[in-house]
Amino acid sequence: MNDLSQEIARLKAEKGAVILAHNYQVPEVQDVADITGDSLELAKAAVNVDADTIVFCGVDFMAETAKILNPEKVVIHPDPDSHCPMACMIDIDELKRLKDDNPGVPVVAYVNTTAETKVHVDVCCTSANAVDVVRNIEGEKVIFIPDENLGQFIQQMVPEKELILWPGYCHTHRDITADEVKELKKENPTAFIMVHPECRPEVVDLANFVFSTSGMLRQVEEHPEFTYIMVTEEGLAYKIYKETNVKVIHTGALCPNMKKITLEKVRDSLLNMGPEVDLSDEVLERARAPIERMLDYVG
Ligand code: 13P
Ligand code: SF4
Repeated sequence: MNDLSQEIARLKAEKGAVILAHNYQVPEVQDVADITGDSLELAKAAVNVDADTIVFCGVDFMAETAKILNPEKVVIHPDPDSHCPMACMIDIDELKRLKDDNPGVPVVAYVNTTAETKVHVDVCCTSANAVDVVRNIEGEKVIFIPDENLGQFIQQMVPEKELILWPGYCHTHRDITADEVKELKKENPTAFIMVHPECRPEVVDLANFVFSTSGMLRQVEEHPEFTYIMVTEEGLAYKIYKETNVKVIHTGALCPNMKKITLEKVRDSLLNMGPEVDLSDEVLERARAPIERMLDYVG
């Protein structure tokens, strides 16, 4: 452990804080975290965490989700500039118009949305449970926001419902091309391809498995004897290696926002006990229902 990591461990104990980190965080931040996981695992961990302070190493909507589930706790986001651009692709007025045009149609929101957006939706989902949430929701039509690629994947898996999609996307996953993945497969013909559903449909079509980040880890844990091409943000490769000793092949896709959180910023956030996630009481209360509904749906 380097000096900075030791200082973080000391401060964490002194302040009674717990560090949660997403699977895309840089390795040294993953290493100082108490819990790492995908967005669903971290949302669940935020509910069960036994500490007054949560330091959340991930993009802003994830830190907001932790705060919404723990309004009484201090939730610190070490770099408030760590945004998810896809979460900002919803215009609330346009969403209201879409709802007015489709009265009674439930709105399912990927958890990659702002707290403000969650106020206007019925239920949230993550990539780990999106198919189950949409399959189980009542009604034949569903408005799904904001990720169009994930929506198209869900539509394939749940053909009995009609999805109305929003044209949002993740730059990091959308920039991965089918040619790139085919090239990796050509170089590694026996490898299994695992794809995150935020990728383009033609990339998803190349997959042996379509998984959230935790799904990919579980697949490698269950079958470490195989070779894998991992088609998602590169941070997950470290987590998989740490847990399984398996080196996956990947495209090197990077989420620059996830990488904004550094050990220095984690240390400073513990020293300053901030920046804190700050949401109004109204948003905290109204955004909680769709997240809790998701947790009720899928445990
Ligand atoms: P997971 O739900 O797999 O953690 O993905 C979150 C995310 O932001 C993917 O880009
Ligand atoms: Fe958002 Fe994409 Fe980064 Fe995930 S990888 S946090 S969806 S920008």
